[in-house]
Amino acid sequence: MALSPATGFEVHSARGRFNAAFFSLIGPYLEWNLRKHKRRVFAGLPQEVVELGSGVGANLRYLPAGATLIAIEPNRPMHRRLRAAAERRGVHLDLHDCVAERTDLPDHCVDSVISSLVLCSVINPAEVLAEIRRILRPGGTFRFVEHVAAPTGTATRALQRAFRRPWAWTFEGCSCERDLESLVCAAGFASVDIAPYRLHTPFVWFNTHIAGTART
Ligand SMILES: C[S@@+](CC[C@H](N)C(=O)[O-])C[C@H]1O[C@@H](n2cnc3c(N)ncnc32)[C@H](O)[C@@H]1O
Repeated sequence: MALSPATGFEVHSARGRFNAAFFSLIGPYLEWNLRKHKRRVFAGLPQEVVELGSGVGANLRYLPAGATLIAIEPNRPMHRRLRAAAERRGVHLDLHDCVAERTDLPDHCVDSVISSLVLCSVINPAEVLAEIRRILRPGGTFRFVEHVAAPTGTATRALQRAFRRPWAWTFEGCSCERDLESLVCAAGFASVDIAPYRLHTPFVWFNTHIAGTART
């Protein structure tokens, strides 16, 4: 494990490589499960998009032809696969090795920021949301597909609690217990549109999701 002095992100070389391989392998299954929601919120993205936690490039397919992706991805073991995927898809990749809490981008520089399955893993989602507002231009959109905590007192919520430690260890800090809908609503966006849904997967604690758009 190494703490990158530049980003403050803990790179686990073995788990990072495992996750890069895992998300490449499971990508088609996740895509099959999430595409209805991604097609809706990622429709009509502009030519230049900032993506937080791009991983191995699951969302490259939602960018318009010839687009530029400014990818904020501090997990270096993901970079080789992300670069290869961008090349295959004809996307110009501008890869930034920094965390979403503190990007190296100027104020109000983009019209769209996207994320999928990332706010569950960042250290401080409220700081990330403030950073998104800082880099978006007025009228810009943050579009997201994320998994969230189930309602308190439900069996799914109990499973999320029970599996929290092995899940976080395996998936490098991922939490199934975050109320991200409330955080997005409290982050100071001009408008927020969020739809909750459930995935059909045997990983019951990973079933509760939201997809939406927040506008500055
Ligand atoms: C579960 S993966 C999802 C990857 C991809 N977005 C997808 O949908 O397949 C979570 C991603 O968030 C990244 N990540 C974790 N902490 C981060 C942070 N503080 N800032 C930016 N990205 C982060 C991880 O490196 C990883 O690529």
